[in-house]
Amino acid sequence: MTTRIYVDGRIGDEHTAVVPVLDRGFLYGDSVYEVTRTAGGQPVDLEPHLDRLDRSAERLALAVPPRAAIRDAIDATLTAAANPDSYLRVVVTRGSGEFGLDPALATEPRLVVVVRALVRPRAELYTAGAAAWLVGVERTSPRALDPAIKSGNYLNNILALAEARRHGANEAILCDAHGRVAEGATSNVWCVHGGVVSTPADDVGLLPGITRWRLMGLARAAGIEVRQTALTADELRAADEVFITSSIRHVMPIARLDDRVLGVGPMTRRLAALYDDFVAGVAAAAEPRRRP
Ligand SMILES: Cc1ncc(COP(=O)(O)O)c(C=O)c1O
Repeated sequence: MTTRIYVDGRIGDEHTAVVPVLDRGFLYGDSVYEVTRTAGGQPVDLEPHLDRLDRSAERLALAVPPRAAIRDAIDATLTAAANPDSYLRVVVTRGSGEFGLDPALATEPRLVVVVRALVRPRAELYTAGAAAWLVGVERTSPRALDPAIKSGNYLNNILALAEARRHGANEAILCDAHGRVAEGATSNVWCVHGGVVSTPADDVGLLPGITRWRLMGLARAAGIEVRQTALTADELRAADEVFITSSIRHVMPIARLDDRVLGVGPMTRRLAALYDDFVAGVAAAAEPRRRP
């Protein structure tokens, strides 16, 4: 159970790895990041995650180190940690500079790779399901900080989750200014209504999750149609089944939405099994990681 952290070419641990105080990621959340897990030591869907990192960085005009350098840093950090499986976070900040918002004040992006032992959510959240709360905090408009950018600025989502926690829920579900369901604080939202699986469409303003993308492909291959649509909060409340997806949580059933008890439905179980099987397949195909 080891944590290893790469910062600018050096690998340390949670006590020794250091990011300078003038780093704009620390000061302003001026950074982009990705999170995935490994299976059999291999990062799951690494390339789609790194593609999204590029897209996020491009929107912020933030220069990301070359893909090969990022892959090497990930590899070295995973090898140094030597966990059976890991949580993997890749962060690129705009770097350090004098105080001031002007992005031109920093010229050297900083690459940080955090590897920790993978801790999956407790089993009960899958068997009995989790609780979610439709919060009053709105998802930011795509014309402000576009939710499609996975930036280090998560304060809006922190506010949303704090509201959900006050209601005893595990996850917050945010709507946009028009009352359309967008996503969770750190997950995508799905529902099943009369056997039809739906998830909010990208143009509602959300982070297009890699797990969501992967699951759509797995579902279609299994003959299950997935609709990308606009859903109101009331439509979500009236759903037969609700679940969320993210790289660490996989497919997690929402058994309670606000005060309504939904339980864990058959389609959620089926999709969860499809995704878990996919991850098991990544592990089975993985080559053993060579020790340094
Ligand atoms: C706001 C938000 N939406 C969705 C997701 C799910 O994305 P992914 O499936 O790529 O982990 C996350 C993941 O952290 C997130 O932060």
